[in-house]
Amino acid sequence: MTAVTDLTTYWDRYAGQLPTPPREDALKDALRWCQYPDHGPGPELLGEPATTLELGCGRGDAVAALATTGVDATGVDLSAEHVRAAHEWWGDLPNARFVHADVVDYLSTTRGRWEAAYSIWGAVWFTDPDVLLPLVRERLVPGGRLTFAQAPAVPGAYGVQGIYATGFRGRKVWVYRWAYEPETWEEILTRHGFTGARAWVEPAPEPDHVGTLIVRASA
Ligand SMILES: C[S@@+](CC[C@H](N)C(=O)[O-])C[C@H]1O[C@@H](n2cnc3c(N)ncnc32)[C@H](O)[C@@H]1O
Repeated sequence: MTAVTDLTTYWDRYAGQLPTPPREDALKDALRWCQYPDHGPGPELLGEPATTLELGCGRGDAVAALATTGVDATGVDLSAEHVRAAHEWWGDLPNARFVHADVVDYLSTTRGRWEAAYSIWGAVWFTDPDVLLPLVRERLVPGGRLTFAQAPAVPGAYGVQGIYATGFRGRKVWVYRWAYEPETWEEILTRHGFTGARAWVEPAPEPDHVGTLIVRASA
């Protein structure tokens, strides 16, 4: 039986379902790492880089927010629909750049180097860390920082997680996500040459609600 998956269509469809808040609200709410409004750390987690690369930038709100502060900000996303929307929403910002590509392909071919790479529930979650992390490290300047956020692992379920992304009826479309406990993320990053790796679960606003895994490390 032939396996079928179509990530581009999946993410294009996801892009089409996103809310379209006013531009100022989108900028204000960008660069929030947690899934709850006005909760958890914000842009300060990135420090003050002059150049940034977002891995899986979606519509590009975070790229735009950085660009408005003078950062030379690039975002990469594999969804043509997301990148089209990013150009439509933020194409007028001189420091914002959007690239339509898979992050592994992009990082394998670009000559760019960045002071910070980050991913907000983005491509880092959906890409094998053993493939992605060495590529990210190579494209960071020495001492450059990687920061990412995503859902914490479900207890007892670690490594690659496969889900049928459009439900259990119809075409087979699945996505993979990678889930580990914070200390395992620190080990993986250290194994790939990053230093000062620190990972933690930011608690949700309500006890017993799902928190946010946040990970930082230096190249
Ligand atoms: C849950 S969305 C988050 C988007 C954005 N960071 C945000 O906070 O709105 C995940 C994004 O990662 C992108 N993505 C997933 N895998 C990717 C890959 N291998 N290369 C590039 N982008 C990818 C998807 O297209 C999607 O835009």
